[in-house]
Amino acid sequence: MAKPNEIPFVSLTRQFQALEVELTQVFLDVGRSGVYILGESVDQFEQAIAEYCGAKFAISVANGSDALFLCLKAMGVGPGDEVITAANSFIASTWVIVATGAKPVLVDVCSDLNIDPLEVEKAISSKTKVIIPVHLAGRSAAMDDINAISEKAGLYVLEDAAQAIGARYHGKPIGSLGSAAGFSLHPLKNLGVYGDGGFITTSDEILANKLRLLRNHGLRTRNDCEIWGYNSRLDTIQAAFALVKLKHLDTWNERCRQIAKYYRESLVDYVDVPKDQKWEQNVYHNFVITTSLRDELQIYLREAGIGSAIHYPIPIHLQPAAKDLGYKVGSFPKAEELACTMLSLPIYPELLDSEVERVVTKVKEFYV
Ligand SMILES: Cc1ncc(COP(=O)(O)O)c(C=O)c1O
Repeated sequence: MAKPNEIPFVSLTRQFQALEVELTQVFLDVGRSGVYILGESVDQFEQAIAEYCGAKFAISVANGSDALFLCLKAMGVGPGDEVITAANSFIASTWVIVATGAKPVLVDVCSDLNIDPLEVEKAISSKTKVIIPVHLAGRSAAMDDINAISEKAGLYVLEDAAQAIGARYHGKPIGSLGSAAGFSLHPLKNLGVYGDGGFITTSDEILANKLRLLRNHGLRTRNDCEIWGYNSRLDTIQAAFALVKLKHLDTWNERCRQIAKYYRESLVDYVDVPKDQKWEQNVYHNFVITTSLRDELQIYLREAGIGSAIHYPIPIHLQPAAKDLGYKVGSFPKAEELACTMLSLPIYPELLDSEVERVVTKVKEFYV
């Protein structure tokens, strides 16, 4: 619990309090229905979210990592294959590749934090099957370039959209830009539930049919197991909660954009701030500034009662788990530089104007 006058990096309870009555009703409705796995709420959520993301199909699953993993399985990825992804991301973007038995091929990122298409092109080999661009911090990767590269090479593109629900690129929603997309409904995401959750969007009917089998033991019907599968379903109660929250998502994302605009305009002379391109609509899952005095600034803010976070302090190739992949310090210079300079400031719809103002004042104060 935050102390009075503290500005937490994130506060989930503020939003819960605002929705408490609606959520309680949903809990009662699902509880009284007696259906706790799949069923109507899951169907309704999948329909609504497919439409929201501009895709023909949505398949809900147990979490965002499974969304990516099951897509790779549906795309036929396995031992002997390579999958390209960004060195600067949450670790799940890479472990899902390892979990299929394929080899992750990491590439460097650009200053927008997202995968560098030129590096993607260089990393393609005869074993490459999929490219996973991550829309980090709520901002689209350079999908036109990535899709052009994948088309030329005949590869799948799997959007890691865990952090970017509601974002757009050239007017098109994230989740409609590749062969499929994996989203997370983790409580910290812009659309988060009250536990783990995730979903996949795709307009490829073959992938969609396979994914529905894979998330439910491979069962076509109650007794017919068509392929070996997994148990990775979104809980019915979480789907019902997600439906309630989906109605508010655009308003929440708009509020985050408003806060981001204020941060950007106020802090541009002090730190490097994200500058949106005219073709993108960022949803600011995080507002990431970069500064060479990152650690000192973070301590200064902490002492002033302001929370901040680093996404991510260790690039994936330098994680102990990645030892076997053969990368070293210097393999991905931009990702390594960002790991030492990035700082995420508080950004969530419930943040008060007075709190945003105090964050700005304290950052400025640090530099004078
Ligand atoms: C970029 C990225 N990919 C994948 C995931 C995995 O999602 P989940 O935590 O729901 O498994 C996350 C969530 O933290 C993420 O941020």
